[in-house]
Amino acid sequence: MEQRVLITGAGDGIGLGIADEFLKAGAKVFICDVRGELFDEKMRSSFAGCYRTDVGSTADVTAMFDDIRAKVDGLDVLINNVGVAGPHAGVEDISLDDWDATLRANLTGAFLCIKQAVPYMKSQKRGSIINISSVGTQTLPPMRSVYNTSKWAVEGLTKSLARELGPFGINCNAILPGIMNNNRMRSIMERRSRHENRDLDDIAADYLKYSAMGRLIEVQEIGYAAVFLASQGARSITSQMLSVCGGTQYED
Ligand SMILES: NC(=O)c1ccc[n+]([C@@H]2O[C@H](COP(=O)([O-])OP(=O)(O)OC[C@H]3O[C@@H](n4cnc5c(N)ncnc54)[C@H](O)[C@@H]3O)[C@@H](O)[C@H]2O)c1
Repeated sequence: MEQRVLITGAGDGIGLGIADEFLKAGAKVFICDVRGELFDEKMRSSFAGCYRTDVGSTADVTAMFDDIRAKVDGLDVLINNVGVAGPHAGVEDISLDDWDATLRANLTGAFLCIKQAVPYMKSQKRGSIINISSVGTQTLPPMRSVYNTSKWAVEGLTKSLARELGPFGINCNAILPGIMNNNRMRSIMERRSRHENRDLDDIAADYLKYSAMGRLIEVQEIGYAAVFLASQGARSITSQMLSVCGGTQYED
């Protein structure tokens, strides 16, 4: 049966890479993004629905799920991909507003979508939830305490739900991407290169220093992992944190 899949934050980057892999696998794919202007004609004709949705807004998320329910009467796979970088600052300099906004997008957004998706999945007695965390939970880059915390919380939510939803045939896993070859990572590196007046290759080498494979990860590679975790072949795999990061870990 054709899988019905929703991917959040899929107007660009990893989310779009995941969405394309599910399309290739023959799924009916719904995507959303807070930047509705990212949806072009090709996306609108390929995907079953492109929603301008802020996942931190109950009203937006409810409206999106109402529309999906009207179109396909259920959901098999939910991928919570939205993640904002949050402030780069020492903990004492982070404003409460920035703290709240980061957790709202990265954690509460996943919660609001899960809350809507789970009743469908429970009634079907099957489903897959995949949350996109980050290899940052392993390497814990300094000055990123809100982001790191939000992703640890996403992993905690993943493990809690794996336990709670397993009896209903629903698996719940997280994927931890490494340093990506996408617009977001490129603009971070370019900003650092200008700011530190250093060569872009030098900056990239800094990021890849702890990667065993020493290369950036392509968005499709996160898609391959997601398609697998949502497949029949992965039906007994739950509560797992799958790093797709070329073997990244700090050695000092
Ligand atoms: N880029 C990396 O190197 C990297 C590494 C590890 C983990 N990740 C994680 O992977 C996920 C995707 O990252 P990416 O690099 O593709 O980022 P991205 O910024 O390219 O894409 C994220 C998308 O989410 C959308 N978005 C932001 N807030 C939203 C909201 N409240 N509601 C709906 N959409 C919203 C953005 O408009 C954007 O299109 C994130 O969770 C990120 O933390 C990224």
